[in-house]
Amino acid sequence: MVVIRSEWEIELLRTANQIVADVLATLAEHIRPGITTKELDRIAEEMIRDRGAVPAFKGYRGYPATTCISVEDEIVHGIPGKRVLKEGEIVSIDVGTCYCGYYGDAAITVPCGEIDENRRRLIEATDLALSRAIAVAREGNTVNDIGCAIEKTCKEYGFSVVRDFVGHGIGSAMHEPLQIPNFDTGKPGVKLRSGMVLAIEPMVNMGSSGVRILNDGWTAVTVDGSPSAHFEHSVVVRKDRAEILSFTEKLVWGLRDIKGSN
Ligand code: MF3
Ligand code: CO
Repeated sequence: MVVIRSEWEIELLRTANQIVADVLATLAEHIRPGITTKELDRIAEEMIRDRGAVPAFKGYRGYPATTCISVEDEIVHGIPGKRVLKEGEIVSIDVGTCYCGYYGDAAITVPCGEIDENRRRLIEATDLALSRAIAVAREGNTVNDIGCAIEKTCKEYGFSVVRDFVGHGIGSAMHEPLQIPNFDTGKPGVKLRSGMVLAIEPMVNMGSSGVRILNDGWTAVTVDGSPSAHFEHSVVVRKDRAEILSFTEKLVWGLRDIKGSN
């Protein structure tokens, strides 16, 4: 069953997601050549605990860190460690929190120093795909409208959507039953209703859509070694337009072109 959240539950989800947004904004400022992914993870954990929340990923199915940091051909679930970021790389950061039993989850992809034009377009496409997906996440539309918006945007750019991972319902668990594919499934799927809370998270590869998992059991990489980008927002479905719980003005991402793209 898909849960409809009350306004007080949404308030707690908003707090959890605002902590995520704050952490992402700070980590984005720290991304530069020479920093290790482990150092970024340390900053994230400290910020989350300082704000009275707990890292939602740590310990989840044995996951060992606060963040997922996925560099270049890593799509998602990169484990922070000794890796030193280099000029020209693209870095996806995914953060999850739990605040008073309610979950926050969002992700961004940012450049490390100067990046080439293809990588810049990949980030733009993924960010725009998320914005267009959010723009159709309103009452009366269906789950498949979200996937269609994402897939269409990626095709426009000539990139491919990852099909092995999906977005999800989020609330009093990080992953709730509703799955949100990032592509056209050919069926309308569940009808969206006000008060549903969704984590929408397109993952887009510059090359083919294939995925391989590294021996660490977590890191998902592209089979062809091409770079990959990932953006995620947690949103509440509303009557006219979704409310983005993980939005912050400190970092404007995932809100391009939201008007007029319905
Ligand atoms: N945003 C990711 C997701 O929704 C984060 C999960 S990472 C994990 O699945 F380590 F917690 F599994
Ligand atoms: Co998620």
